[in-house]
Amino acid sequence: MKSFLVWLVAACSVMAAGASFADAPIIIKFSHVVAKDTPKGKAAEKFKELAEAATKGKVKIEIYPNSTLYKDKEELEALQLGAVQMLAPSLAKFGPLGVKEFELFDLPFIFTDKKALAKITEGPIGRELLNKLDAKGILGLAYWDNGFKMMSSNRPIHTPTDMKGLKMRIQASKVLDEQMRVLGANPQVMAFSEVYQALQTGVVDGAENPPSNLYTQKMHEVQKHLTVTNHGYIGYAVIVNKKFWDKLPADVRTQLENAMREASKYANTIAQQENDRALEAVKKAGTTTVYVPNEKEKAAWQAALLPVQKTMADRIGKDLIAAVNKATQ
Ligand code: LMR
Repeated sequence: MKSFLVWLVAACSVMAAGASFADAPIIIKFSHVVAKDTPKGKAAEKFKELAEAATKGKVKIEIYPNSTLYKDKEELEALQLGAVQMLAPSLAKFGPLGVKEFELFDLPFIFTDKKALAKITEGPIGRELLNKLDAKGILGLAYWDNGFKMMSSNRPIHTPTDMKGLKMRIQASKVLDEQMRVLGANPQVMAFSEVYQALQTGVVDGAENPPSNLYTQKMHEVQKHLTVTNHGYIGYAVIVNKKFWDKLPADVRTQLENAMREASKYANTIAQQENDRALEAVKKAGTTTVYVPNEKEKAAWQAALLPVQKTMADRIGKDLIAAVNKATQ
C-alpha cells in the first residue's frame, strides 16, 4: 500500500510537472539599445501587446530597452547564441557580422525621402538583403523606420568644412567611417549607450543622430549645436534567432508574424512624427541651437558627401547601389 502511495505521488508530480511545462509560456527576450519613448521602443511595446493578445498568453515578450541587457555588439552575439531571441539593430550594425551590404542604408543622401526608402524596405531589394542573414543563423522579419540623421557638436556646423578636426562618434559601419573622413572629421566607433557620457566628458565632440535618439538620450544637454543636415538614414531590421523561430509551433509562428506585420505598420507610421516631436522638444529645451542649412549650404553637403557612394561601391556592391538608385528614382 505504502509503495503504491509513493508511486502515486511520484506519478502525480511527474504529470503536474509535464502539465506545467506544457503550459509554461514561450518567452521571447527582445533586447534593444534605445529608450522606450522612441519609434523603436514604442514599436517593440506594440509588438508585445499584439503578440501576447494573439497567442492568448502562449507567448510572453520580455523587452529590455536602453542597453539594459546588452550593448550594440554584444546583442548580436547574444542573439546568435540564443541568449535573446529578438532584436532590432540599426542597419548600420550588420557590417561586423559580415553582411556589409546593409551599409548601403548608411550611404549619404541615398534616399531623398521616406517614399524612396519604402521602395527598398518594402520591395525585393529589402527582402533579398534580409535573406542574406539566414547564413548567420538569423531570420530577418521586418524593417522599422526611424529617421534622417543630423550632425551635432559643441561647435556650430553650417557647412561641411565646419566638420574639420571634430571627433565624431559613429556606429560600427565602414560607410560612416568614410563619410566622416571625407569631411575631415575623426570618426570613433562607440556603443550607443556610451555616447552621452563621451559627449559630456569631451571624449568625442559630436555625433550624428535622428532627433528622437538625441532627445531621448538627453544628448541635447551636452551638445550646443544641432544642424538639420538629414545627410543619412537610420532604420532597423527586426531579427530573430532562426533556430528558435523555426522550432515554434506553426500556429504560434503565424500569429507572431501577423503581430509583427501590424507592429511594423505602426512603427513606420509613427517614426516621422516622433522625430518631428523630438526636434521641437530639443528647440524648446533651449540648450541647443538648431540650425537649418540654406539651399547653398545644402548643396555643399551633397557635393561633399555624394562621392562616398563611389568610394564605398566595392564594399557594398556597384550593382546593388545602381539597383537602389534605379528603384528610388
Ligand atoms: C546608434 O547606435 O546610434 C543607433 O543605432 C541606436 C539605435 O538603435 O537607434
